[in-house]
Amino acid sequence: MRPVIVITGGTGLIGRALTGLLVRKQYRVHILTRQPERYSGTDVVSYFAWDWTRRQIDGRVFEGTTALVHLAGANIGAQRWTENYKAQIAGSRILSLAFLRDFMMQNGIQVQYFAGASAIGYYGCVTDDRPRSEADPPGTDFLARLTVRWEQTSQSMKAVAAKVGILRTGVVFDRREGAFPRMIRPLRWGITSPLGTGRQWIDWIHIHDIARMYLFMLENAVEGTFNAVAPDPLTYRQFVQTTAAFLGRPCCLPPVPGFLVRWLTGSSACLALEGMPIESDKIRSAGFEFHYPQTEDALRDLLKV
Ligand SMILES: NC(=O)c1ccc[n+]([C@@H]2O[C@H](COP(=O)([O-])OP(=O)(O)OC[C@H]3O[C@@H](n4cnc5c(N)ncnc54)[C@H](OP(=O)(O)O)[C@@H]3O)[C@@H](O)[C@H]2O)c1
Repeated sequence: MRPVIVITGGTGLIGRALTGLLVRKQYRVHILTRQPERYSGTDVVSYFAWDWTRRQIDGRVFEGTTALVHLAGANIGAQRWTENYKAQIAGSRILSLAFLRDFMMQNGIQVQYFAGASAIGYYGCVTDDRPRSEADPPGTDFLARLTVRWEQTSQSMKAVAAKVGILRTGVVFDRREGAFPRMIRPLRWGITSPLGTGRQWIDWIHIHDIARMYLFMLENAVEGTFNAVAPDPLTYRQFVQTTAAFLGRPCCLPPVPGFLVRWLTGSSACLALEGMPIESDKIRSAGFEFHYPQTEDALRDLLKV
């Protein structure tokens, strides 16, 4: 019988890539979604309803489950961070997981492994050139504080999971969805302007590698917290230069001033305007091998038509 993996937010960018990989590796996937009616399952992928705001869940999702992956969360780049949206960003990650933990405890459900998403926002919204490892302390801004609580809640899953692993994920580069197409669009039009100072680092990871990394964590029951970024971060200016060269565009036009980005997007502007280099040594020492370690290889794949 195929082992069953439950994925919250399995309908999202990373969840879909991970589901595809798991199915190819002979797993069965149970996806927890707020809108199961939107999806048609297959003989190996099934959708189950949950609504953490009402503390409701279709408990059949846990039948035969060996591991749980928590990817659910309101998208942090989707809209301005109003107080209301900040509460959604936090609740959909932290309260949803606490609900899941409580439900599992009340019903005596145990899994062998829990994998939790986290984000490099942990290190704070600042720009400098000092590489950060997992041992560095968290920042103090909204995203950093959120990430600390998110990771604490993931650790509390030890009450229902034999082992717990956490991936502090960088900017996931996918051809069609997320940050990458938004960053590429102006460059395709010949608008080769870095954002802000252009000195902020982009700690990216190819969609294929983040999905593979979750699989690696699951299959090896890897414990601990790991930076999930490729070993070749680059500054925004370097990203624009490299991509413009790929696209055959002249580089570079004057930068888009940071104040304009802040005016347009509010406090979430830090996602685009700030960043430091982040190391991936720990996950590589654990045995993970990147398929796309270098920016140029990733761009070659992502920009092919
Ligand atoms: N993509 C990145 O660049 C990146 C970087 C760092 C960290 N991460 C983290 O990795 C996780 C997965 O990322 P992703 O890019 O796959 O996210 P995504 O595409 O935005 O999908 C997340 C899923 O979460 C569910 N969701 C959205 N709002 C929710 C809410 N209010 N309550 C409960 N569930 C909700 C949705 O599933 P349903 O609508 O089916 O319920 C959605 O498909 C997230 O926690 C994200 O913060 C991602």
